[in-house]
Amino acid sequence: MVHYQRYIQLKKGVTITTYVDEEDACVNMSACNKRSKPKLLIFLLFCTLLSSCLILAPHLCSTNGEDDNIKRSKTSACSSVSNGTICCDRSSIRSDVCVMKGDIRTQSSSFSVFLYTSKKHQQEKIKPYTRKWEPSTMATIDELTLIAKTPNGSITDSNRPKCDVEHDVPAVFFSTGGYTGNVYHEFNDGLIPLYITSQKYNKKVVFVILEYHDWWITKYANILTHLSDFEPIDFSGDRRTHCFKESIFGLKIHDELTVDSSLMEGSKTIKDFRDILDKGYRPRIQGLILEEQRENSAIKAVVGVEKPKLVIISRNGSRAILNEELLVKMASKIGFSVTVLKPQRTSELAKIYRELNSSDVMIGVHGAAMTHFLFMKPGSVFIQVVPLGTNWAAETYYGEPAKKLGLRYVGYEILPRESSLYDEYDSSDPVLTDPNSVNDRGWEFTKRIYLDRQKVRLNLRRFRKRLVRSYIYTMAKRNGIVRSQ
Ligand SMILES: *[C@@H]1O[C@H](CO)[C@@H](O)[C@H](O)[C@H]1NC(C)=O
Ligand SMILES: *[C@@H]1O[C@H](CO)[C@@H](O)[C@H](O)[C@H]1NC(C)=O
Ligand SMILES: *[C@@H]1O[C@H](CO)[C@@H](O)[C@H](O)[C@H]1NC(C)=O
Ligand SMILES: *[C@@H]1O[C@H](CO)[C@@H](O)[C@H](O)[C@H]1NC(C)=O
Repeated sequence: MVHYQRYIQLKKGVTITTYVDEEDACVNMSACNKRSKPKLLIFLLFCTLLSSCLILAPHLCSTNGEDDNIKRSKTSACSSVSNGTICCDRSSIRSDVCVMKGDIRTQSSSFSVFLYTSKKHQQEKIKPYTRKWEPSTMATIDELTLIAKTPNGSITDSNRPKCDVEHDVPAVFFSTGGYTGNVYHEFNDGLIPLYITSQKYNKKVVFVILEYHDWWITKYANILTHLSDFEPIDFSGDRRTHCFKESIFGLKIHDELTVDSSLMEGSKTIKDFRDILDKGYRPRIQGLILEEQRENSAIKAVVGVEKPKLVIISRNGSRAILNEELLVKMASKIGFSVTVLKPQRTSELAKIYRELNSSDVMIGVHGAAMTHFLFMKPGSVFIQVVPLGTNWAAETYYGEPAKKLGLRYVGYEILPRESSLYDEYDSSDPVLTDPNSVNDRGWEFTKRIYLDRQKVRLNLRRFRKRLVRSYIYTMAKRNGIVRSQ
């Protein structure tokens, strides 16, 4: 798995991040072909616009830290939309969201949705994907035109297309294009925003999906059935006219892999999202357990107390742990029961969930697979091995979100000697001594040097301390000495 990240520090407190996993994002060919390479110029232009916005209208672009720039308030601009109107909230840096109420009819052949109203004529365009700040990604996303039409002639004008399917519940329109195909993006850009946007409907909502993929529906069926009681609609594959009384276009997103309870109705948190995963995967996991019991009719007697469980999320290729076997031995000696997991794009998530939900400690080297921390129980330990030059990304994408889930997070920043780059560069080379200066030269450098070529050879004496501490913590928690969150 090759993993690319890029970030541009615009000004103090304003950070634009890009997180691309080129191999994994290309699940079907159309997604690959459509995706253009990031264009630096567009990026620079965008940055210029953003920074002039900061100078000219600071009240619009809060500078109290990156979070404020990407948040929308609970009572966002479109929280009360009157019947017969379209309202678009374009204030967030991460996504636009439009709301329509009234007589809504889809027309997929023209990528349009009409609103028949006696109020004013209105037209809006929207790309319902949560990476608005990444022009190169958004260029690949299908655009919808939302048109409020006033009657021509009599109020009972019948020029409107007839409804093939009438829905009593609202619709949420979103795209599973872009970087869908990479587990980080599937959760960060898709499922969590979908939860944030739709949970208030309590499953009484229809999902209308642009760039619909059967594999995505299959992969996430367990979760989708807990977000909606209805079959999702393939917007461009289904040419019928669907009629709604209320629709949302685009998904709200709060921050990396998290749910900000202060912006949620009912103060929902990322733990509530995780509860959906637990409910979603339960039937399948129980089925697996029954199957196993049938196969091993001699039921294993549990001897003594079960050992704390440790899972290593393993990579090969870039950012692999070169001495993983020794790590496994050491962890076993400390007293852990160790499992090595190699999640693939095709791995069944219920099985990974089962493994992690029953584990006390998860270890992995920074990369998209760290998204699986979402499957760990709050109160358990997550040790992220942070290769040289990846500190910022590791903290932002996984460390901080993991803490918000209530995990006990440990960022293990490797020393130069623990990096395979140590064998390639002189010990005084900035690549080893000052990764920030290398990252400042541009993300191509970060990607080429730190992400694509670096492997890790853990200093086991140093790493052992974290493991022992995790072991002690787990045992203390079991004995009720530490209260789990
Ligand atoms: C909203 O508008 C639609 C179509 O214009 C109309 O049929 C419906 O009665 C209106 N609903 C309310 C609550 O005003
Ligand atoms: C109604 O529509 C027709 C053609 O679609 C147009 O020629 C006419 O001017 C319209 N009338 C009104 C009152 O807008
Ligand atoms: C996850 O672990 C918790 C605590 O051990 C357990 O109660 C729950 O049933 C597990 N979830 C699933 C889906 O197995
Ligand atoms: C990673 O492992 C898989 C299967 O275990 C193997 O097919 C593949 O060649 C390995 N990749 C690298 C870069 O070692």
